[in-house]
Amino acid sequence: MRTRPLKVALLGCGVVGSEVARIMTTHADDLAARIGAPVELAGIAVRRPDKVRDGIPAELVTTDATALVKRGDIDVVIEVIGGIEPARTLITTAFEHGASVVSANKALVAADGAALHAAAQRHGADLYYEAAVAGAIPLVRPLRESLAGDKVNRVLGIVNGTTNFILDKMDSSGAGYSEALDEATALGYAEADPTADVEGFDAAAKAAILAGIAFHTRVTIDDVHREGLTEVTAADIASAKRMGCTVKLLAICERAADGASVTARVHPAMIPLSHPLASVREAYNAVFVESDAAGQLMFYGPGAGGSPTASAVLGDLVAVCRNKLAGATGPGESAYTRLPVSPMGDVVTRYHISLDVADKSGVLAQVATVFAEHGVSIDTVRQQGKDGEASLVVVTHRAADAALSSTVGALRELDTVRGVASIMRVEGE
Ligand code: HSE
Repeated sequence: MRTRPLKVALLGCGVVGSEVARIMTTHADDLAARIGAPVELAGIAVRRPDKVRDGIPAELVTTDATALVKRGDIDVVIEVIGGIEPARTLITTAFEHGASVVSANKALVAADGAALHAAAQRHGADLYYEAAVAGAIPLVRPLRESLAGDKVNRVLGIVNGTTNFILDKMDSSGAGYSEALDEATALGYAEADPTADVEGFDAAAKAAILAGIAFHTRVTIDDVHREGLTEVTAADIASAKRMGCTVKLLAICERAADGASVTARVHPAMIPLSHPLASVREAYNAVFVESDAAGQLMFYGPGAGGSPTASAVLGDLVAVCRNKLAGATGPGESAYTRLPVSPMGDVVTRYHISLDVADKSGVLAQVATVFAEHGVSIDTVRQQGKDGEASLVVVTHRAADAALSSTVGALRELDTVRGVASIMRVEGE
């Protein structure tokens, strides 16, 4: 074993960073044995140096992250700051000064992964980011390496724990969205500002990363169709239950049937209770990968939290250090297919539409005619009437999203349709 240590700079010492530092210290001997050289924490950049951090050597702490990544003797930079800047500049500077980078930064990789990969390649460095998608669950490396000989056609999953917790609460208790969000906040699952989670930004960033790796093409967060879960009501959940379904916020990345394009989307969807994703409870994540040769694979586990995310960071650290010792780099960006990302209108799936209508003769026929005129085939209809009004639930066969949107637009024009109470996609059948 080499005795000269590999030097590591840690950018950020919050929930994840402090766990990374702790494990690097407590598992130093195992990490050294697995890598073939000791790894030494050479500096920790933080914003608030006065904060008490148990087990963090004070002499390593600095507020000057730029100077740390420019030192020249750093082999690996671990970036767990998050956000676009200063993380992007620090990572690029780290490459320029000879370091490889391990990052947990989904927002940055989803926005600018191609440029970061190019910078890493220019400087003969590695860029690894297993922790950016679904915390501890190995997904990036399985897609990048284990499945590199297969053809992945679909990635379907729950990649946000906060929203899964909220939907699980709504499903198990009948609570509305706000009540379930309050509980998630009280228990520390949801942040004080839950926008990134509940509006689907966090899941969309992960979907972009997964789609790019799975289909060997470039997908950024701007290519991902995104709908959050703030509009999901207790009535939607109850309606899903009547259909033998539950509601999940899904990230879905698909190769088109003709193989000429891909789609990536995040939105709430009904899935049958028999689907394995339906039994993913609380704040857990799970991702289904479908490929030509392997068939269906499912990855399941904790998708957030200091310790699970640190596990993914440290796995990357070991891999990157091994590469350094071998004088090699691991896989970089693979975007050779250059498949375009199709708009949401091209996505084909099933829909559950809930309408408030007048309860009188001819209404059902009128509604059915609108569906037929737009080429959307109805699978089932359920009606419940009360005092001259009725609630009509229509479930369609597979149809293009654009056709469904036109159908709903035309339904809204009907005098007998008082309102479109909800539209939800039905997946996983
Ligand atoms: N906020 C995310 C979640 C974890 O709830 O899953 C970090 O991506």
